[in-house]
Amino acid sequence: MTLEPVDLYSAARHAQAKLVLESVSKQFGAGDQAVQALSPVNVVLCPGDFVCIVGPSGCGKSTLLNLVAGFEQPSSGRLLLDKREIVGPGSERGVVFQQGALFNWMTVLENVAFGPRSRGIDRPRERAMHYLELVGLAGFAQRYPYELSGGMQQRVGIARALVNEPEMLLMDEPFAALDQQNRELLQEEIKDIWRRTGKTVLWITHSIEESLFLATHVLVMTARPGAIKAAFQAGFSRSEDPFVSTTTAFSEAKRQILGLLREESLAARSQEVAS
Ligand SMILES: Nc1ncnc2c1ncn2[C@@H]1O[C@H](COP(=O)(O)OP(=O)(O)OP(=O)(O)O)[C@@H](O)[C@H]1O
Ligand SMILES: [Mg+2]
Repeated sequence: MTLEPVDLYSAARHAQAKLVLESVSKQFGAGDQAVQALSPVNVVLCPGDFVCIVGPSGCGKSTLLNLVAGFEQPSSGRLLLDKREIVGPGSERGVVFQQGALFNWMTVLENVAFGPRSRGIDRPRERAMHYLELVGLAGFAQRYPYELSGGMQQRVGIARALVNEPEMLLMDEPFAALDQQNRELLQEEIKDIWRRTGKTVLWITHSIEESLFLATHVLVMTARPGAIKAAFQAGFSRSEDPFVSTTTAFSEAKRQILGLLREESLAARSQEVAS
């Protein structure tokens, strides 16, 4: 069984869209210095979708996520969330960055409590503690970020996004710095949260296995300027089998995406040599 290609911009998806990226492109700088980071991208995310993006390094994945987060503005096209144009960041979109962005002068607990506190939500510290427990860091609540390992800081970042209970989670390689055990445990935890809450998730990863384990849809990007090379429907995230990644169907799906990515990584490599 191979993965089913899917049109992520179909009329049916538009009818129930949560997020629409309509001909969204991004160029940084101008003139000789201009970098075309993203070719026009058309994608619709529906409520409850878990969309994983894979693509070669430097192809524009973080750029795409930053546009959805509202940290950057598109050079062309527009982004709509619940039919309203995205003009900046908002608490309904929780972001976990590729590199930790914690407040170094605050304890771990205060870092996580910051969001709910600044929005006047009840009992921010209790809420923060709950999410620290979830990511396995309750024992480090009173420490400062610099006292934690890179992977632990990343888990604080995840708790900080989850504590706001956002409708959408935007994750930029959130598990890249984690060891295999923590990575697998947190993957299951995230899957569980996603199933329970029906959140819409946009997730960037370099791990094809991670994308297949978590996603309802896998989006493969081309080398820079990033465009959508292929989009697939993936059913493994709905499986109850914790060892689903050892099945033949999973291996075949992995092979299919590996093939596509290999072509793009080679293209990215020759781009680097040429420039
Ligand atoms: N603020 C910026 N100013 C100028 N160029 C930028 C900026 N942000 C990104 N770029 C460029 O845009 C391109 C895409 O970068 P981006 O960070 O989106 O890639 P990526 O796919 O996330 O890569 P990686 O997998 O390595 O994280 C790169 O060539 C990068 O140098
Ligand atoms: Mg990136």
